Amino acid sequence: MRLTMIGAGYVGLVSGACFADFGHVVTCVDNNEDRIRSLGAGKMPIYEPGLDRIVASNVAEDRLRFTTDLAASVASADAVFIAVGTPSRRGDGHADLTYVHAAARLIAAALDGFTVIVTKSTVPVGTGDQIEAIIREERSDADFAVVSNPEFLREGAAIDDFKRPNRIVVGTTDPRGREVMQEVYRPLYLNQAPLLFTDRRTAELVKYAANAFLATKITFINEMADLCEKVGADVQDVARGIGLDNRIGPKFLHAGPGFGGSCFPKDTLALIRTAEEAGADLRIVSAVSDINESRKSRMADRVVDALGGSLEGRTIAVLGLTFKPNTDDMREAPSLSLIPPLQAAGASVRAYDPQGMEFARPLLPGVTLAKDAYDCATGADALVIVTEWESFRALDFARIKSVMKQPLLVDFRNIYPPSELHAHGFTYRSVGRPRLDRGEAVS
Ligand code: NAI
Repeated sequence: MRLTMIGAGYVGLVSGACFADFGHVVTCVDNNEDRIRSLGAGKMPIYEPGLDRIVASNVAEDRLRFTTDLAASVASADAVFIAVGTPSRRGDGHADLTYVHAAARLIAAALDGFTVIVTKSTVPVGTGDQIEAIIREERSDADFAVVSNPEFLREGAAIDDFKRPNRIVVGTTDPRGREVMQEVYRPLYLNQAPLLFTDRRTAELVKYAANAFLATKITFINEMADLCEKVGADVQDVARGIGLDNRIGPKFLHAGPGFGGSCFPKDTLALIRTAEEAGADLRIVSAVSDINESRKSRMADRVVDALGGSLEGRTIAVLGLTFKPNTDDMREAPSLSLIPPLQAAGASVRAYDPQGMEFARPLLPGVTLAKDAYDCATGADALVIVTEWESFRALDFARIKSVMKQPLLVDFRNIYPPSELHAHGFTYRSVGRPRLDRGEAVS
């Protein structure tokens, strides 16, 4: 099939490259000329493990192309996927559909013959109806079907998620739309991935419901972590103890600094707005969103507390800036809520991230970017782990200790056993686990 992907970002580029890998002929369109130029030169505009290889091989076999020419690629496509951003709208937190609506108008002008228009972007319930109305308004003669096909991939594991999804959700009641989508995903459902057909509004809601549920799970265990700290329990054992129950499951039960990233914060907010407009009261999701925001804003207090109440003249080393490992995505990263308050309280901040430095630099003025974890720790009064990159999991603590001013580790991701850091002579603070001070006897 001939597919066009509008938006060559984290979702569009991965989806386009994977569809090409399945044998479809895919054109990725983006209106960011730098992005298309860089892709044309074989340079990935984002970091996603394995993406460069899959792009290179499909470009070489002429199944994957990049262009800014939306009209030509839409005219020749069997299906056109909209994978543009849907960020939070300033002021009210609703999903900003400016890019989606603009794409719909451009698509309308270029349609030629029956075409399926697929929303892969995360869009509020009813957006498919709006796209349909826009296209009809622009081109009363157009022959098309608008289908919802939300994407569930995770950055950092995007290719594997796309190729081996837990499920594929397709929202359409149009028989021709259904047939095309069956053909598009044939390689996947032949591979046993369940293909769930629903109506369009339901498919749109499935995506938000899934993200809100996962955000709730994270927020729940974070709340348990706070309780563990008060009553002297260990949240990791609580998570394991409940997660082994297969009605609960072990995933998304890692206590930490609060969820960030390009999806959960904006999608929970947008879902709350959708519900408000529809006259439904989403009290759980509203609480999750509020609790998470206040959690992120309180993380700096933990660092202040670990340093005895004042940051004046202190140097803090931060390991990990991206919102999670294996991506360079800085959108709503917890580091962005943590670092400015540390600076405002008088600390100098040094930071290191294996992939996020380029995007982090303009977002974190005044932060000294280090060349590795050890350089970062040099001269620091506290080392703070914010993102759990693999390369931070086996630090040489004798070396770290020798370069720091004092051995203090604040670990927001619980990646070390407290006893290990204690044995290295560190004061160790983590989330929802016993506090261990340097030199203190272990009970
Ligand atoms: P992104 O910001 O990385 O990519 C969007 C791309 O669309 C940009 O390169 C932009 O230049 C391009 N674009 C905007 N308007 C355009 C137009 N009119 N014509 C051509 N290109 C245009 O965004 P990302 O992260 O890929 O997200 C896209 C959608 O997918 C969002 O709705 C998001 O919520 C959803 N999503 C994102 C996931 C993620 O992990 N990033 C996972 C699942 C869904």
